[in-house]
Amino acid sequence: MANYFFIFVLIFIFFYIFFRLAPTRRKKEIKEIISDLEELKKNEKYRKPAEDNIIFFRSAQTVLKYIWWLFFIAPKMRRKKEELLELADLPLPKWQKETHLRLTKLEKLSFPGLIKPIKKEIIKNLLRIKKTKKDPLILLNAGSGGAELEGQVLNELFIKKFDLPIIFICVEISPHILEIGIDNINKNIPYLYKKKIKIKKLDKINYLILEDLKKEAAVDKKNIIVFLNNNIFSLNNGLLSGSIDLIYHSRLRHHLTIKEQNDLEKLEIFLSSRIIEFDDFCSIPVFIFPSIITWRWPVTLNGAILSYLRDFSKKELLSFKEKKGWRLIMYKNLGYYLMIYDESKK
Ligand SMILES: C[S@@+](CC[C@H](N)C(=O)[O-])C[C@H]1O[C@@H](n2cnc3c(N)ncnc32)[C@H](O)[C@@H]1O
Repeated sequence: MANYFFIFVLIFIFFYIFFRLAPTRRKKEIKEIISDLEELKKNEKYRKPAEDNIIFFRSAQTVLKYIWWLFFIAPKMRRKKEELLELADLPLPKWQKETHLRLTKLEKLSFPGLIKPIKKEIIKNLLRIKKTKKDPLILLNAGSGGAELEGQVLNELFIKKFDLPIIFICVEISPHILEIGIDNINKNIPYLYKKKIKIKKLDKINYLILEDLKKEAAVDKKNIIVFLNNNIFSLNNGLLSGSIDLIYHSRLRHHLTIKEQNDLEKLEIFLSSRIIEFDDFCSIPVFIFPSIITWRWPVTLNGAILSYLRDFSKKELLSFKEKKGWRLIMYKNLGYYLMIYDESKK
């Protein structure tokens, strides 16, 4: 009975949004996106992903076309998931910014708590590491996006009166998305705590720069948030083994090819003895709820649904249980997982 009630409420919300609020703004936005994608399609490098996205946005114009796409086109795209790119992966700055602005807004909501599990795990690890360290801690976020995670972790640490300075290194490949991160931190750290942080934008990092940052954080007794506009794989050179206290990434894995995923794992294990990975997994229920919730915002709908198509299935994830040093925590009903590496457990 409770299930039927829940389904009824969801359908009601869906139709309410569709008929009452589905605005011309939505249609206008889809039209503008399709026109930008048609232009991008002329570049051979982006022809295929641009076409996939055009098909997606044409289908997202009406509920019926979208349901058709979900049933008949999406499974074909999933079979070729390595070729699939989301709108925000394409070189269209306006839509990259728009997607990440909306994603950070969603991540701020306590329900559904999109980044809550990784935030909790990071804080748990920091409290543990602090017991044995006196120097500033060095954290690295691979694919930091709008840096909402850093903002939320910092705010919680301020409340907990965590007194060891932290250097957060936010590595982000897109300069446009990096700017969203800088802006987000600037706007969302409460005034009271602003004096406890410094924000820096760098275009490279190496062990000498890291040493200087550590000294600066220790002397000033301030947290430093470094925004690094780089491909995560550029860190292959220049940093020393074990130089990062904790590496984490949230919803990055599905953006990488299988080869890149393996390279990332090797790089992370070289740099740190603790790694936290957070992402979603692909199962049928994950398509229903986000389709309804994000229907009003086509770019968010695109980011959510295409990333689910690229995610691992439960079965693929379970094969990771075998890997030494790694622990998998699956939130089966919520559709996401944490994978935690601890060198001491190898
Ligand atoms: C889905 S977003 C997640 C952003 C953020 N971690 C979050 O959870 O809100 C993935 C991010 O990873 C970035 N990214 C993808 N490949 C990357 C790479 N090779 N190096 C650095 N960043 C990358 C993308 O630009 C994007 O901002």
